[in-house]
Amino acid sequence: MLGGTAWLGRSVAQDAVARGHDVTCLARGNGATAAGATFVAADRDREDGLEAVSGADWDTVLDVARHPGHVRRAVRDLRARHWVFVSSGNAYASFSSLEQDEDAPVREPLAGDVMTSMEVYGEAKVACEDAVREGAATATIVRSGLIGGPGDWSGRTGYWPWRFAHPVGDRVVVPADPDFPCAVIDVRDLAPWLVSAAEERLDGTFNATGPTTTLAEVLTSAAQVAGSPATPLEVPPSLLAELGVASWMGPSSLPLWIDDPQWRGFATLGTARARAAGLRVRPLRDTLRDALAFEEVRDVPRAAGLTDEEERRVQEAVLR
Ligand SMILES: NC(=O)c1ccc[n+]([C@@H]2O[C@H](COP(=O)([O-])OP(=O)(O)OC[C@H]3O[C@@H](n4cnc5c(N)ncnc54)[C@H](OP(=O)(O)O)[C@@H]3O)[C@@H](O)[C@H]2O)c1
Repeated sequence: MLGGTAWLGRSVAQDAVARGHDVTCLARGNGATAAGATFVAADRDREDGLEAVSGADWDTVLDVARHPGHVRRAVRDLRARHWVFVSSGNAYASFSSLEQDEDAPVREPLAGDVMTSMEVYGEAKVACEDAVREGAATATIVRSGLIGGPGDWSGRTGYWPWRFAHPVGDRVVVPADPDFPCAVIDVRDLAPWLVSAAEERLDGTFNATGPTTTLAEVLTSAAQVAGSPATPLEVPPSLLAELGVASWMGPSSLPLWIDDPQWRGFATLGTARARAAGLRVRPLRDTLRDALAFEEVRDVPRAAGLTDEEERRVQEAVLR
């Protein structure tokens, strides 16, 4: 595994070890290695960053990288029978049509080796995918939608149940966009499917996300798993923008919602191919319930949602 020490990667490593595989994780060392996996410290920014693992014959290389240069060097330097690359739904050129399958047009691949900002995340993933397809005998390319569940450091899937569990008063600020399409794939469903893809040397490109639902259903489920009597306070997107509330992620944001018509179809990717290849997903409720449990013991600041102070400020602006 190139990576394998952060959230999804460590879950994959844990699952692969549990199935009896010998797993080696290469990273710089910022995260923790799964018990039973071997850790190799190396920096992929270096031209010779993969030297420590380039002498072996690997059954599978699984890569979660974003920088095309990292992937190009990996394909060049490693001998593997199969490749699994974790890409993203962001690879698609547009989300104006719903339920796109894997043949929908993708963005122009990033020309350089380095993804300089999240603005070119999709382009970077397309370039990474291309490098893997060109260099690997067989490859599973997985375009994942939003990943959720316990361990979601971003707070995107934990925020709503957490906010309903800890309301400011008896209302919860939500975007007045109940029909916004949402989809989440639980890390505990995606990770084992990636291991199975490696075992089966599944060849092809696959969208992987949970079934499409609506923001209203997410909020109802979030309130239920939190056992909360609080009720949604719907705030028009224009007023949220005026009050400095962002959408999707980051500080002062309302997650699982994107205030941009161009992104409205993001959570509607068609997943028939992955389901035919064995992807099974649990009910969203379970993901939200366990994301809430993670939020209750979180030891790093949440990177999405409103603070109590921000929540209060928006409620006051709406209710005054
Ligand atoms: N979160 C979502 O909702 C979402 C949605 C769609 C797709 N995805 C994709 O899902 C994957 C998530 O992977 P993840 O959770 O394991 O997190 P990640 O943060 O993408 O993991 C990066 C891994 O690569 C290592 N790494 C980074 N720079 C390195 C370098 N210069 N040299 C060596 N190793 C390096 C990191 O460890 P060190 O820092 O220790 O080096 C870490 O193990 C990514 O491919 C992401 O693009 C995520």
